[in-house]
Amino acid sequence: MIFVTGGAGFIGANFVLDWLRTSDEPVLNLDALTYAGNLENLAALQGDSRHVFVQGDICDRALIDRLFAEHRPRAIVHFAAESHVDRSIHSPASFVRTNVDGTFTLLEAARDYWSALDGEGRAAFRFLHVSTDEVYGSLGPNDPPFAETKAYEPNSPYSASKAASDHLVRAWYHTYGLPVLTTNCSNNYGPYQFPEKLIPLMIANALAGKALPVYGDGRNVRDWLYVGDHCAAIREVLARGRVGETYNVGGWNEMPNIDIVHTVCALLDELRPDAAGPHARLITYVADRPGHDRRYAIDARKIERELGWRPAETFETGIRKTIAWYLANQDWVAHVQSGAYREWLARNYGERRA
Ligand code: NAD
Ligand code: TYD
Repeated sequence: MIFVTGGAGFIGANFVLDWLRTSDEPVLNLDALTYAGNLENLAALQGDSRHVFVQGDICDRALIDRLFAEHRPRAIVHFAAESHVDRSIHSPASFVRTNVDGTFTLLEAARDYWSALDGEGRAAFRFLHVSTDEVYGSLGPNDPPFAETKAYEPNSPYSASKAASDHLVRAWYHTYGLPVLTTNCSNNYGPYQFPEKLIPLMIANALAGKALPVYGDGRNVRDWLYVGDHCAAIREVLARGRVGETYNVGGWNEMPNIDIVHTVCALLDELRPDAAGPHARLITYVADRPGHDRRYAIDARKIERELGWRPAETFETGIRKTIAWYLANQDWVAHVQSGAYREWLARNYGERRA
């Protein structure tokens, strides 16, 4: 079986669902179920013996050791993280704990387990670390997109903690020979994304007739990739990636935030028109995020050249699917909008002046 961490979060849940749709190899899924983890994402797997869910913390070494010993996985795919930049600005400690200490704990447990495997098991074992393009820092308008050789220049507590975890993974390969792989992906969107991130927040607010808060001048650029394409890339890297290498994953789809918001509004106007007027009337410019990276862009030629991966979705097809999913799953959205979610909105947006 494979051992997935963070498989009740946005990308992890999409990965587990896709994995079990395309393979019969079982998944051990360890997730702490923080505010971002949600077993409803995995409801389709209820009663499916190929999915073994364990609620627990990646910082808990005894638990990880026990899971390795009991389940004897052939690989670990590590998604678990604190993942939201704005939260990392308000409360960085949990980012250092989970992203740095948690990854360290997993690496050490994996190293002990892997060292004791027989020759064939040792050669086949993989530790795949799922990371982000944000570790590379911010690009100017005419800079080339991030290649795997780009120096790390993280600017937020989130990206700094992910950069630290990437460095640990690299060191465990060079020092101990642990067979690692790292993927650095651009911004994902799609089903099950928690409505604190740009696209699902805009969909949820627009449907509720609430303001659509655009930070700064709205011209920050991100490279958007449909989550299913990210999951496919991870499967390719796990199957055929070269040990010790990193692979950048992106959608060849750079867009300024304001264009994303207008696209969401236009699709909602078409699919769920609002009698009060076009959804774009709700767009509200608010105070910028401190240290807000201006532009991310991924050069995804290495993964295409070596593994033949390219995104299957365009932004037009992916965003339409995503909005259709949110419209069809309003209950899911309502369930995650708990008291803690409302407190977060008050904290993050309450102090931002238009
Ligand atoms: P998410 O916040 O939706 O999910 C994170 C999951 O990790 C949650 O289920 C949470 O309960 C779990 N978790 C958190 N702390 C834990 C702990 N201490 N022990 C066990 N589980 C814990 O995040 P996501 O967007 O699905 O991102 C998954 C991974 O992909 C992260 O490593 C992130 O850095 C990376 N990534 C995300 C994006 C993106 O656009 N969302 C892009 C590139 C890379
Ligand atoms: P986000 O989804 O938080 O991803 P990241 O910061 O990891 O790229 O934000 C994407 C972009 O959208 C980023 O430039 C910040 C911006 N943004 C807003 O303008 N308003 C918002 O309410 C949020 C959450 C993000």
